[in-house]
Amino acid sequence: MLIPEKGLSKEEILTTLQLFKSRDLDWKAGKVWCYVYNPGEDPAEVTREAYMSFLTENGLDPSVFPSMLKLETDVVRAVINLLRGDENSVGHLTTGGTESIMLAVKTARDMARATKPHIKEPEMVLPKTAHAAFHKAAHYLSVKPVVVDIDPETFKVRAEEMEKAITENTILLIASAPSYSQGVIDPIAEIGNVAQRHNLLFHVDGCVGGLHLSFMRKLGYDVPDFDFTVSGVTSISTDLHKYGYAAKGCSAIMYRSKDIRKYQIFACTDTTGYTLINPTMLSSKTGGPMAGAWAILNFLGEQGYKKIVGEVQEATQHLIDGVHTMEDLQVLGEPAMCMFSFKSDTINVYQLADEMSKRGWYIQGQFSTPLTPRNLHISVTHGTVHNVDALLQDLRECVEIVKAKTPIDSDAIRGMVGAALQSPDPEAAFGQLAASAGLTGTELPSEMAFINEVLDALPDELCNVFLVNYFNDLYV
Ligand SMILES: Cc1ncc(COP(=O)(O)O)c(C=O)c1O
Repeated sequence: MLIPEKGLSKEEILTTLQLFKSRDLDWKAGKVWCYVYNPGEDPAEVTREAYMSFLTENGLDPSVFPSMLKLETDVVRAVINLLRGDENSVGHLTTGGTESIMLAVKTARDMARATKPHIKEPEMVLPKTAHAAFHKAAHYLSVKPVVVDIDPETFKVRAEEMEKAITENTILLIASAPSYSQGVIDPIAEIGNVAQRHNLLFHVDGCVGGLHLSFMRKLGYDVPDFDFTVSGVTSISTDLHKYGYAAKGCSAIMYRSKDIRKYQIFACTDTTGYTLINPTMLSSKTGGPMAGAWAILNFLGEQGYKKIVGEVQEATQHLIDGVHTMEDLQVLGEPAMCMFSFKSDTINVYQLADEMSKRGWYIQGQFSTPLTPRNLHISVTHGTVHNVDALLQDLRECVEIVKAKTPIDSDAIRGMVGAALQSPDPEAAFGQLAASAGLTGTELPSEMAFINEVLDALPDELCNVFLVNYFNDLYV
């Protein structure tokens, strides 16, 4: 695009923007089983208006925009209450789960620098199921991730295994409530004991679960303690923009006390410019996401959330029961809330995802690891509950379609990947292989099974290099 010499009309601009969406997945129809959390028309409308009414205010300086300080402290306090913190618990709003997690790791790193200065190469211990945002934090912040395998039956980490991985350089333990991949909750109370015995910080990733699980508990579901009631837990991340159904760009990072949180805040008076004090990563920031979150919490209220959570849980149970009736598919572990994944020993699940996508459904593929099989992930949300029976029907039919198809020859693909790895320039050889599978720098492939098969066969390190190169080409 070139900036037009003469500006376009509002109509031209808005029509063109809508056109850009023409190839996007139709989330409004409730056929996308991840990425989007649709609270329904009225709450979405209230959120949108609240968001737009704070679009231009700047959270950079609470003395100029005290309204934003009010919004942030209100929302954080509401989430802390839900997570059963006390008057000492504190927190901030961030742009999302990734930022909350990065701040939890930064806080642990900087607290260790101040209180355990003998640690020169800090480490954090995390389960294999922990979200990739922790690896990103490790990468950005130079904290070594020490990954602990999970139990391949339950998909939960064992507290003893976490304890075994602790060294004199450990500064932080991490667990999920629940993990995104299989939706199971790690043994938070037991890991909390380990953290206390070793005088370590312990972060619980409640990005997807913090709100939903808390309302489940209020509804009488049996939810293990995963929040500030577990005395070893020192910080929790919880996303408003997931199961809080707020607009994107809003998550809370919360700490047991100010003594820990202070290591998160950054101040700088060392320049010729204005004094900068940033509790989170951004400096200038719109008030939209905070206002949106404040609005939806107040619009739905406890009753609204409980109703949504109850319906979503019923739909999830119905869906899981339906999957159990299909002998080709197996649900992994025992999901704690409304997210789960399933594998197949008889068909290629990536082909199944492709067949479902031809019918307008989006179900996310997840790669295998040495201990866990490849699988498909489903997050049930308020916007998808009405489609559970339709999804089950299409799943049944698509399983049969895939069974009748020529299966992808996984061994041959592993052979090709192996040959590419042996070549003098594995990166280039693999690039060619991916291009032949339809993954080029400019177009996204319509069928993903083959490329998923190739990526799944690659060692993680090379897969990551390839994906970096791919994105480097995809964007200008
Ligand atoms: C458990 C968990 N933690 C962290 C994140 C990262 O959140 P975000 O995409 O908002 O950065 C996700 C995203 O799905 C998640 O499921």
